[in-house]
Amino acid sequence: MTAAVAHECRTAADLAAMPEDYRTAVQKIVASHARNELYGAQVFDEPAIALAPTPYAKWLTCRVAMEEYHHHVRFKSLGEEIGIPPERMDPKTAQPLSIFGFPLHTWAEFCVIKLLADLAEILQVEDLLHCSFHPLRNLARITMPEEKFHAQFGRDFCTELVRTDEGRHAVQDAIDRYFPLLPGFFGASGSRNNELYREYRLKQRTNDEMRADYLARARDLVENVLGLKLPDVAAQAA
Ligand SMILES: [Fe+2]
Ligand SMILES: [Fe+2]
Repeated sequence: MTAAVAHECRTAADLAAMPEDYRTAVQKIVASHARNELYGAQVFDEPAIALAPTPYAKWLTCRVAMEEYHHHVRFKSLGEEIGIPPERMDPKTAQPLSIFGFPLHTWAEFCVIKLLADLAEILQVEDLLHCSFHPLRNLARITMPEEKFHAQFGRDFCTELVRTDEGRHAVQDAIDRYFPLLPGFFGASGSRNNELYREYRLKQRTNDEMRADYLARARDLVENVLGLKLPDVAAQAA
């Protein structure tokens, strides 16, 4: 197993020659991205087009939804190349992440989801930028500017909303209800999967390191940029 540490895998075709544990780890990461990008687009981004309050906001939300569906298409296409069965990349047959279990009803909730969940996704994608499996590294590099746009979208619309009392209340309320789902997105402390991912240099950081970084960045956005309060769950989860 230690020999695998030295491996770099440059193409999807080369993956077949890699050790089974390495192949399994790559497949887990790609399948998770494929099904979660699809599910997020289905439950958040596409429905949010109807919630967007102006033609301009609808246009930008359409772009976000289009890009999230495209992320799924890209990850699924890589998944097919490396032999992942389609049902593992489909949220109907494989469990999506709990951050998508939040029932979306308002525009403020959607803006908070983009602000906080897409920041979490940025951290995950950053961690893949130096991945030893090059097709995944390349996908991360293509995806990153779009995830940054989604997080900026959330930041811009939340900034606009907090200018009124009603908007500030709606954004704080959405943060209070949505944020508690996010620390768990980074996985368990001492996760065996994460240990393997780091051993193979598929990922670079521990779940706890990523969670701590996320909490600091989320606190900066919510408290210093928006002038609101991050719920106490942040301190407990760190
Ligand atoms: Fe995405
Ligand atoms: Fe996104």
